[in-house]
Amino acid sequence: MSRPLLYPFYLLFCFFSLLSGIQSDDLQILMKLKSTLLQTSNTTAFISWESSNSMCNFTGINCNSGGFVTEIELSYQNLTGILPLDSICQLQSLEKLSFGFNYLHGPTMDDLKNCVKLQYLDLGNNLFTGWSVPEISSLSQLRYLHLNASGFSGTFPWKSLQNMTGLVRLSLGDNPFKPSPFPNEVLLLTNLTWLYLSNCGIQGTIPAEIGNLKELINLELADNNMTGEIPVEIGNLVNLWQLELYNNSLTGKLPIGLRNLTKLEMFDSSRNYLEGDLSELRFLNNLVSLHLFENELSGQVPAEFGKFTKLENFSLYGNNFIGPLPPNLGSWAKINYIDIAANFFTGPIPPDMCKQGTMKWLFMFENYLTGEIPASYANCSTLRRFMVNNNSLSGEVPIGIWGLPNRNLIDISLNDIEGPITSDIKNAKSLTYLFAGNNRLSGELPAAICNVSFLVILDISKNSLKGKIPQCLGNFSYYLRVMNLRMNNFQGTIPDTFAKGNQLRTIVFNDNNLEGLLPKSFINCTNLEVLDLGNNMINDLFPYWFEALTNLQVLVLKSNKFHGPIGNHNTSGVFFFKLRILDLSHNEFTGLLPRNYFENFNAMMINDECRLEPHYMGESVQYYMFQSVQNQDSVVLTVKGLEIKLQRILTTFTTIDLSSNKFQGVIPEVLGRLTILRLLNLSHNSLTGHIPSSLAKLSALESLDLSSNSLTGEIPLQLIDLTFLAMLNLSQNQLIGPIPQGKQFATFENNSYDGNLGLCGFPLSIKCSTNKLMPPLLASIFQEDNNYSFARGFGWKAVLIGYGCGFLFGLVMGYVVFKIGKPQWLVRIVEGEQNNKKRRPNNQRPRQRRNECI
Ligand SMILES: *[C@@H]1O[C@H](CO)[C@@H](O)[C@H](O)[C@H]1NC(C)=O
Ligand SMILES: *[C@@H]1O[C@H](CO)[C@@H](O)[C@H](O)[C@H]1NC(C)=O
Ligand SMILES: *[C@@H]1O[C@H](CO)[C@@H](O)[C@H](O)[C@H]1NC(C)=O
Ligand SMILES: *[C@@H]1O[C@H](CO)[C@@H](O)[C@H](O)[C@H]1NC(C)=O
Ligand SMILES: *[C@@H]1O[C@H](CO)[C@@H](O)[C@H](O)[C@H]1NC(C)=O
Ligand SMILES: *[C@@H]1O[C@H](CO)[C@@H](O)[C@H](O)[C@H]1NC(C)=O
Ligand SMILES: *[C@@H]1O[C@H](CO)[C@@H](O)[C@H](O)[C@H]1NC(C)=O
Ligand SMILES: *[C@@H]1O[C@H](CO)[C@@H](O)[C@H](O)[C@H]1NC(C)=O
Ligand SMILES: *[C@@H]1O[C@H](CO)[C@@H](O)[C@H](O)[C@H]1NC(C)=O
Ligand SMILES: *[C@@H]1O[C@H](CO)[C@@H](O)[C@H](O)[C@H]1NC(C)=O
Ligand SMILES: *[C@@H]1O[C@H](CO)[C@@H](O)[C@H](O)[C@H]1NC(C)=O
Ligand SMILES: *[C@@H]1O[C@H](CO)[C@@H](O)[C@H](O)[C@H]1NC(C)=O
Repeated sequence: MSRPLLYPFYLLFCFFSLLSGIQSDDLQILMKLKSTLLQTSNTTAFISWESSNSMCNFTGINCNSGGFVTEIELSYQNLTGILPLDSICQLQSLEKLSFGFNYLHGPTMDDLKNCVKLQYLDLGNNLFTGWSVPEISSLSQLRYLHLNASGFSGTFPWKSLQNMTGLVRLSLGDNPFKPSPFPNEVLLLTNLTWLYLSNCGIQGTIPAEIGNLKELINLELADNNMTGEIPVEIGNLVNLWQLELYNNSLTGKLPIGLRNLTKLEMFDSSRNYLEGDLSELRFLNNLVSLHLFENELSGQVPAEFGKFTKLENFSLYGNNFIGPLPPNLGSWAKINYIDIAANFFTGPIPPDMCKQGTMKWLFMFENYLTGEIPASYANCSTLRRFMVNNNSLSGEVPIGIWGLPNRNLIDISLNDIEGPITSDIKNAKSLTYLFAGNNRLSGELPAAICNVSFLVILDISKNSLKGKIPQCLGNFSYYLRVMNLRMNNFQGTIPDTFAKGNQLRTIVFNDNNLEGLLPKSFINCTNLEVLDLGNNMINDLFPYWFEALTNLQVLVLKSNKFHGPIGNHNTSGVFFFKLRILDLSHNEFTGLLPRNYFENFNAMMINDECRLEPHYMGESVQYYMFQSVQNQDSVVLTVKGLEIKLQRILTTFTTIDLSSNKFQGVIPEVLGRLTILRLLNLSHNSLTGHIPSSLAKLSALESLDLSSNSLTGEIPLQLIDLTFLAMLNLSQNQLIGPIPQGKQFATFENNSYDGNLGLCGFPLSIKCSTNKLMPPLLASIFQEDNNYSFARGFGWKAVLIGYGCGFLFGLVMGYVVFKIGKPQWLVRIVEGEQNNKKRRPNNQRPRQRRNECI
């Protein structure tokens, strides 16, 4: 009964089976896709793609009701190799093709032309490096086009967009396309809600017609080379939620249209040349993230900002803002960070920034802020970085602030902050960078600091701290790299607790009242690069055992009570071969100059300035340089007033200062091998013998002081080859004969030669005899008789030549360190976190007041 009835259904079934021959075509296409990609990819994407399974049940596949494939969604599947687009586009019903975030590469053919039903295409975040975008002009149904960060280059086929009038999302950013002006075709896509054209070579101005794209929610044009002003028509984009224009060359003011964008939550126009004030932003109280750093904006921060309750990230650093901050700035419910550094803000720190207990980073350095750090900040337990350095803050650090538990960086340096470092600092379990130098901190350094066991940098230099240095300081943080206690009133002995394996790179105790012997445990500081113990009362022999500190680059023991001989012992081997700066002046060292050490100063012989890219000594040398400049008071004067700020310090500064000791004997020839030495000071000793002509090989020498010794003989003529020599002092010796003439020697004055009765020639008024055999003393007697004509015949020429630039350069470097005091650039790279999103570490445009490096 039922059978005949079923029969027509059976026929119908057969008919549909015929049709489904096409469906099995789809299956074959998928199987081909699978086998192609499996050859090259290590992926689990195709595990479900088995014939025992229905095609429409494969992971990443969707079908329509007819059982035809409409969607392939295979993003984030570790796919590598070449995409068989030609066969994929034979899927007649395909509407969505998504292969984003894989490792696919070219070649890509013009094979998308058959994918005419495609509404969604995502090939973004792949590796099509070296290939152009495939032909897409027939994809007139496209609504979503994601090709961002895909590696595509060449010229983007903007004309293809003409037919895609329904496009809703267009993401082409982060591709190395050929530079082009803003494409007109895009301006006709009035249904666009999402336009991502950052970092893809768009140049020229932002067209006014951008105002036609009224549906836009997201507009990103960052990291291009766009110029001109932001058009007022931007005010038509009243639906905008995000506007990203950072890192272009935009000029002019924030346009009046901005006030219309009341839905705006994310706005970033950093790194442009915008000027004027922020009054256009007064009404944008939905802002969540506002970045305008590194522009030329000015004026005051509008009081309305205090009520922008949704703000989380707020960065205005590196502008010209003035005046006091709105008192309720930062009292916002979800505030995460505020960066108003490097402006001209005055007045007090707003008291409520920490009220919400969400603040993580607070950067207010390099302003003119006054008053005290608000007591309420002690409640800021979430605070991780706190930088208020280079202001005019005063008063004591409120109780609790030293010990904030989550903070990993505090910088209060270069203020007038007073009072003690309190022992609650023991609670600062996460503290890694402590900069408190150049204040008026007083009292003793509490031993509680030794509980801060993750500390990397401790800089409390230039304060009024006193008492003994806690013994534990040598051995409390395995991570400690810099310990700077310079210019305080610490007394007693240096801790003798430096443990094996410590990471210390820089130890600076200069200018305290430390006494006693050098701690033997310094020998455990095998990573040490900078050791500065100058200006104390240490009473010891020269630590020949420092020879084992093979990384030492800077050794300063000046102005102590060191005594006894140096070097010249029988040990062989290499030591001090990285030393660049040696200052042992103003002690009571005796014996011969340390010839065997000089032989080992490789770092002063090899000119890696020329051979290598200049490299940087990291945080280490910064604390030293101040000293070397201080030694050269007259030189400081010549550079004072220069406001140059450099981010990092070149490692090419080299100096030997052994002056004001009791060294005897001759100046060793071997010094001539230190060819990149810049400063040599052997003055105020009892050196005898001639000035070795080998010194002429010190071709980088900028300052040579051999004064107040007992040197004899003539000044080697070869010294005129020292083309960078800007300071020469040979006074108070027993030198004789003619002063070399010409080049730099034309620039030195009488006082370079005072107290050498046997010298003659310019600049001295004593003329030289042409008779080489005539003893100069005799010549000078003749000289006094004006009638001696042959004396005049010799003559000299004051050759006017330019000074070498090296000298100034070197010392400006030193001065800069003094100015900076602390490595500002460092602080923003700590922990790998970044202050500002999407910033790349290099390629920054040099800016006026930039001093960070992220
Ligand atoms: C594939 O990936 C897995 C884990 O992702 C790894 O263990 C395996 O070695 C990889 N195989 C090949 C051939 O790369
Ligand atoms: C892709 O590779 C990662 C890392 O090897 C692995 O964890 C993940 O499971 C892989 N995904 C697929 C779909 O194979
Ligand atoms: C798809 O898989 C589910 C179980 O995962 C199964 O219930 C369903 O029958 C399958 N559909 C087809 C058409 O194979
Ligand atoms: C970039 O493309 C991916 C898909 O590959 C998409 O998810 C993402 O939103 C796009 N980024 C932007 C900023 O449009
Ligand atoms: C737009 O589509 C029409 C037909 O739909 C086609 O003739 C024309 O060539 C397309 N334009 C472009 C630029 O591809
Ligand atoms: C643009 O969007 C509107 C509203 O969603 C829609 O009606 C219209 O068809 C779209 N235009 C095109 C060309 O797809
Ligand atoms: C700024 O944009 C240019 C491209 O115009 C890019 O090369 C550079 O890396 C960007 N700079 C930053 C800091 O992102
Ligand atoms: C930016 O565009 C100008 C012309 O508008 C061009 O001279 C300059 O080289 C471009 N800079 C970059 C980094 O592409
Ligand atoms: C603000 O938006 C309105 C439409 O909502 C528009 O008429 C007006 O011109 C816009 N103002 C500016 C300055 O763009
Ligand atoms: C604010 O900055 C933090 C840290 O950089 C970031 O994780 C967060 O996403 C940002 N919030 C917004 C709304 O941009
Ligand atoms: C810290 O917070 C507590 C509780 O929220 C409050 O009572 C106290 O006054 C705050 N302290 C300061 C100094 O603001
Ligand atoms: C070096 O450190 C170890 C502990 O790590 C210590 O026992 C030893 O005494 C130290 N050396 C000197 C010379 O103090």
